[in-house]
Amino acid sequence: MAIPPELISALRNAERVAVLTGAGVSAESGIPTFRDAQTGLWAQYNLEDLATPEAFARNPKLVWEWYAWRRNLVAQAQPNPAHLALAALERSVPQFTLITQNIDSLHQRAGSRDVIELHGNLARVICATERTVVEAWDATASPPTCPRCGAYLRPDVVWFGEMLPEAALHAAYEAATGCDVFFSIGTSGQVAPAAALPRIALRNGATVVVLNLDVTTSTADRCFFMNARAGEWLPELVSGLTAEG
Ligand code: OAD
Repeated sequence: MAIPPELISALRNAERVAVLTGAGVSAESGIPTFRDAQTGLWAQYNLEDLATPEAFARNPKLVWEWYAWRRNLVAQAQPNPAHLALAALERSVPQFTLITQNIDSLHQRAGSRDVIELHGNLARVICATERTVVEAWDATASPPTCPRCGAYLRPDVVWFGEMLPEAALHAAYEAATGCDVFFSIGTSGQVAPAAALPRIALRNGATVVVLNLDVTTSTADRCFFMNARAGEWLPELVSGLTAEG
């Protein structure tokens, strides 16, 4: 899909660029999204049984094992061209902020620096009571317990009903408010507060690009809606930006 030339020139003039990513960016690495009608995790599993503090209190083994399965899936996955293009974009603009709802570390593995993780990180494990990071645990236990206090360990991810990490959220708002171009990539925009970021950027004068497989491709004043695969469109964008012009 052709990259709109107005978008390339907005990017060339941009001082600050912010990007919000969601599960669609990792889809081409073989990691399921949440809301795809066929393969999305929430089409196959019940969110209330797996991704809330209440679910963990009710059935810690089930929740721990579901996240262990996802951790394993992610460990076997590789960053795809969308992750790599975003790492390249970071090197091509003066100020760049990458905000992700993903917990899979694929942006970091692709070379992105200073990734703002709104929903935590699957690879990190914390004590459910003390909230401190625990580096080593008994992999045969399900769930393992905290070596200090004996409470269950849990993944350091944000569950429904929990607060987002304050510093990350603050940095995300700042980036959305202050950027010249804002990208929302591979997210259905259904989960607050991340879903508000594109509107915040738009309200503050940014050019906004929404790319996923749900929208209809169209252009309106300062808004670009792109129905395309991130792993194809983003590398094209980066080569368009870095080409002579
Ligand atoms: P969703 O599953 O809600 O949305 C994925 C989006 O990616 C959809 O808009 C798809 O059209 C799009 N998509 C799929 N494949 C794509 C591709 N190859 N290229 C571009 N776009 C593609 O995932 P999120 O919006 O990330 O939160 O979900 C937000 C949050 O809801 C997640 O962080 C998670 C979930 O419940 C928590 O668990 C707290």
